[in-house]
Amino acid sequence: MKTNTFRGRDYITLLNYSREEIDTLLDIALDLKRKFVTGESHHLLSDKSLFMIFYNQSLRTRNSFEAGMTQLGGHAHFLSPGKIYTPALKGDEQAYSTERVSDVARTLSRMGHAIAIRMYGNPVGWVYGKANEIVNEFARWADIPIINMECDKYHPCQALADLLTVKEKLGGFAGRRFVMSWAYSPSVEKPLSVPQSAIIGATKMGMEVVLAHPKGLELDPEVIKACQVNAENSGGSFQISNDMQEAFRGADVVYPKSWTSLENIPPNSARLEMEKTERLFNEHKDWICNQVKMDLCKPGAVYMHCLPCDRGFEVTDEVIDGPRSVVFDEAENRLHVQKAVMALTMR
Ligand code: CP
Repeated sequence: MKTNTFRGRDYITLLNYSREEIDTLLDIALDLKRKFVTGESHHLLSDKSLFMIFYNQSLRTRNSFEAGMTQLGGHAHFLSPGKIYTPALKGDEQAYSTERVSDVARTLSRMGHAIAIRMYGNPVGWVYGKANEIVNEFARWADIPIINMECDKYHPCQALADLLTVKEKLGGFAGRRFVMSWAYSPSVEKPLSVPQSAIIGATKMGMEVVLAHPKGLELDPEVIKACQVNAENSGGSFQISNDMQEAFRGADVVYPKSWTSLENIPPNSARLEMEKTERLFNEHKDWICNQVKMDLCKPGAVYMHCLPCDRGFEVTDEVIDGPRSVVFDEAENRLHVQKAVMALTMR
């Protein structure tokens, strides 16, 4: 078990963590889960503070971090950007309503033990990569760990919870067909962070990974390249398909989820082209996870979703409320994996 590389470290993307380190995080998460279930006290972060800055809404992320810090004996502060001086990059500042990220990061570093940030989409005008740049700017200036609670590129806390859920439900990763599929939603305002982090995690762990989406809904080419390298290194595989049904055939895990078109947002597009994305989405309303598609999977296959999901569009009630759905196990596992991340990095 790798134990000596976590203290003081940022948790921004699983790309920065080795297979061995991810195994350690999953192992510690399981240990903390057992302690939580049996009521065994585990105050590993007594008197420590986590500052959480939420530029976007959240149910699972906020509550799992807050509850997790309480269970670890510390405290999580909820910070709404509009109620502090909104952290902003140099050049985006407005007098007395924003504060430069470098100043916020250095101030909070003097008062607590980690800073967690959620930012994607509207707060950065849907400019792809800008939220990730802000998270990295925090990391550049803070003396304490930065935890990514979802930016526009990555959602590493969700990906770790997804991996723990796969490990628990399927007993391991090798040889398992993991299908990350686009699914239709009436909302085009969906970041790419969840699918990108899911395929990064699954390829790192040596799974047989299939990414399925209609043409025009490609993910970040840098992430695709990283997944190809991950698959080579881990002994797994990585394929891309434009056929949802074909992708589901023989799957052990399906993860159908909507994401926006990278082509139609800056900097790939000169301006936001959400109407174009709406037209593209509307051509693919048949990309729904229903029982007919689930029947193409292996017996015992599981249905995953990070939640919240668009019922009736991304998935039918029959599937998400059915026996193969593990969505609430995934949500629960957010608590346990984030406690592992915090316990190891904030010691
Ligand atoms: N999956 C997830 O991050 O959920 P929230 O948006 O509710 O935090």
